[in-house]
Amino acid sequence: MKKLKNKIIWITGASSGIGQALAIALAYEGAHLILSARNEAKLGIIQKACRRYTSFCIIEPLDLSKSENIDDHVDNVIKQTGSIDILINNAGVSQRALAMETPIEIDRRIMEVNFFGTVSLTKRILPYMLKQNSGNIIAVSSISGKFGFPLRTTYSASKHAVQGFFESLRAELKNENIKVTIVSPGRIKTNISLNAITTDGSPYNIMDAGQAGGMSPEKCAKKIISAIKKQRKEVLIGNKEILMVYIRRWLPALYHRLVTKVKN
Ligand SMILES: NC(=O)c1ccc[n+]([C@@H]2O[C@H](COP(=O)([O-])OP(=O)(O)OC[C@H]3O[C@@H](n4cnc5c(N)ncnc54)[C@H](OP(=O)(O)O)[C@@H]3O)[C@@H](O)[C@H]2O)c1
Repeated sequence: MKKLKNKIIWITGASSGIGQALAIALAYEGAHLILSARNEAKLGIIQKACRRYTSFCIIEPLDLSKSENIDDHVDNVIKQTGSIDILINNAGVSQRALAMETPIEIDRRIMEVNFFGTVSLTKRILPYMLKQNSGNIIAVSSISGKFGFPLRTTYSASKHAVQGFFESLRAELKNENIKVTIVSPGRIKTNISLNAITTDGSPYNIMDAGQAGGMSPEKCAKKIISAIKKQRKEVLIGNKEILMVYIRRWLPALYHRLVTKVKN
């Protein structure tokens, strides 16, 4: 797939960070967009910016932790678009909390958004892709989906689950014209650490040094779009922090030493 002009692309987590940058960059390519997240006001602002470049951009505010509402959201979007060419599962919430201090309800909340919400939406859109015999499904995971990281036990678990689900789904779809791309960003300079949830579910509200020094969301979006066009199965995006994926795989003893030393 070389051109994204007129492709119908649904982006979750489009109100901020990587999703916002993807929306603007895809609008610039002439894609037809559906933007989702909880914050309707922010989505409205981004919709307005996108409409400078593309003729079609609608918003569908939704809360991925409420899987029971996903059917209605999909019906509402399909009524307006007829189908979906590309689903970008980008919405997610991070964590800054020790496992032993975190009540299980908070763990479930992270899993609901990052895993069950994402999976529910994907399962509801898949039949439309199968019917039209084409589609691209993108899962924005994390390098924390490749190895464990302190203060992010359930976030890391949710991203490992995302990796497992979408890798397995890709294998199940091997005879269909539906491609699955798993994106694993490292440190991207967004509000993710500010929005990360703590032991009582409140936001962490601190910009981590790692995030502040990370790759820009615009550059990350550009790399994701290139991966979509090339129908890549996997892509790691970031700076030197992505080396940790290879260290974990090939030099595990070094990983075990380093991971306890990394500061946020
Ligand atoms: N930034 C990084 O360094 C980094 C690294 C690895 C992976 N990632 C992944 O990249 C993705 C995007 O994150 P980001 O860095 O752009 O962070 P961000 O700026 O905090 O954006 C997160 C997006 O997810 C949406 N979201 C959160 N909870 C939601 C819910 N319950 N229902 C629907 N939407 C929800 C947020 O919108 P609302 O608040 O309006 O709902 C927002 O649009 C996430 O999956 C994250 O795990 C980021």
